Amino acid sequence: MTNYNEDKGNTDCFSWTRDSALTFKLIVDSFIAGDKSLEPIIKNYIVAQANLQTVSNPSGGLSTGGLAEPKFNLDETAFTGSWGRPQRDGPALRATALIAYGRYLLANGQSSVASNILWPIISNDLSYVMGNWNQTTFDLWEEVKGSSFFTTAVQHRALVEGASFATLIGQSCPGCTSQAPQVLCFLQSYWNGNYIVANINQNNGRSGKDSNTILGSIHTFDTAAGCDASTFQPCSDKALANLKAYVDSFRSIYGINSGRGEGQAAAVGRYPEDVYYNGNPWYISTAAVAEQLYDALYQWNKIGSITITPISLAFFQDFQPSVTTGTYKSGSSTYSSLSSAIKTYADGFMTIVQQYTPANGSISEQFDRNTGAQLSAYDLTWSFAAFLTAGNARANTFPASWGEPSANSIPSQCIATSFAGPYATPTATVFPTGTSTPNCSPNTVTFDVTKSTVYGENLYVVGNQSSLGEWSTTAGVKMDANRYTSSNPQWETTMTFAPGVAFEYKYYKTNTDGSVTWENGGNRVFKVGQQCAGAVSQTDAWQS
Ligand code: NOJ
Repeated sequence: MTNYNEDKGNTDCFSWTRDSALTFKLIVDSFIAGDKSLEPIIKNYIVAQANLQTVSNPSGGLSTGGLAEPKFNLDETAFTGSWGRPQRDGPALRATALIAYGRYLLANGQSSVASNILWPIISNDLSYVMGNWNQTTFDLWEEVKGSSFFTTAVQHRALVEGASFATLIGQSCPGCTSQAPQVLCFLQSYWNGNYIVANINQNNGRSGKDSNTILGSIHTFDTAAGCDASTFQPCSDKALANLKAYVDSFRSIYGINSGRGEGQAAAVGRYPEDVYYNGNPWYISTAAVAEQLYDALYQWNKIGSITITPISLAFFQDFQPSVTTGTYKSGSSTYSSLSSAIKTYADGFMTIVQQYTPANGSISEQFDRNTGAQLSAYDLTWSFAAFLTAGNARANTFPASWGEPSANSIPSQCIATSFAGPYATPTATVFPTGTSTPNCSPNTVTFDVTKSTVYGENLYVVGNQSSLGEWSTTAGVKMDANRYTSSNPQWETTMTFAPGVAFEYKYYKTNTDGSVTWENGGNRVFKVGQQCAGAVSQTDAWQS
């Protein structure tokens, strides 16, 4: 649960669906990365969410809008005071947090827990998103009613993950599949040619430069997505131009930024026009800028180059005024000097967070624009989570891909649509005890795919498992052509998986010029049997 105190000494504490989901996404990722002590609180979170979905509240009931109620009392009763509601990012973020844990369960032989306990909760949240993404909402700062970039971005991600998670557990989510491309289409409307406008379909008189957009980019970062601009990936030209426009808007308005010119880290807040507590820097916002930059650095290193377009040129010129558009390969002096200057820039934002955090480590919501003293909600859970996710990105520790590469093609025509999905009360909330990966040898799976190739071309299998390269076309498993003949152009490779693991995969081909060709069609699904030490073959034909 996420506590939030309006003021030190004030005992008003609430649980926000958004803050809780973002925090539990971090906790689930930390659990998957090795901290197994976290599983009990993950289960507590899930049980609490199953209940909260059923609590009637001022936004509605389970199937009538209640899932987008922004916050609840800590005893899991509805908060009935006036508030900026509904906030339609909550169900999407919660689905994403639960799917992360669900994928862990599937990969560890606990598919019945994923199906019986997690899926009913996730399915309700997905139904909410597919049915309401096109409706106006209060933004994540709970102030503006309109369309919010952060909300649209996380809704797209949730529907994409929802579709593949459903397939993995033998369910389907037709509304995820039909709505996700339209949500992506709508997401493009926030770009104004220079930066991402945080809130549209409203008239609040603000510039639109807002931490909303940085948070949208980092919470939809996908290590497999390259620098794709359709989803505003952190290293995309649009997201970098946006970062500059956003950060620069705070340089002259906060006293503590005095002397911090363009290209130097600065304290940043929600949006420059903010008047809450007179408008101040926020820890969440300052850490988020660092995180976007760390994400970008990771991706450039992985891709092996930095590409500068006319859109991102001004961002890069802050670090090297003479730089021009083009692609700079790692190893080149331009790549080295830019990446090292941007690393210093990113670290500068973390240093600001550190500088204004008291020695006892308590992180509040804001720090004073002139004195740097902490302000507003103290020990704000989301502030800690934001610092930790930025720290993970700095350490190159990233969560699994959400499937961006399979969901980044923008429809030629945007349609304002929706899909009526099912809602049902989640009833299974008791986790079985003692469920763990069967203690036996892994199963071998032989992938066989037929595809005619020419000399110099190679076939790879890639998918959403670390052993399958997490969808990266630089980390797929190379297949061998030992049994390839012209009449039977067979490529194959044999791998081992734990019993009960379910995953998605696809084939791609590397061409003689080094480019990559994906096979067509949706992601393929494979479920490893529950039995121990089995050997199975999967025979596929390349989808042209
Ligand atoms: C106010 C913030 O604007 C909002 O985003 C957040 O959910 C709540 N505080 C709780 O942290």
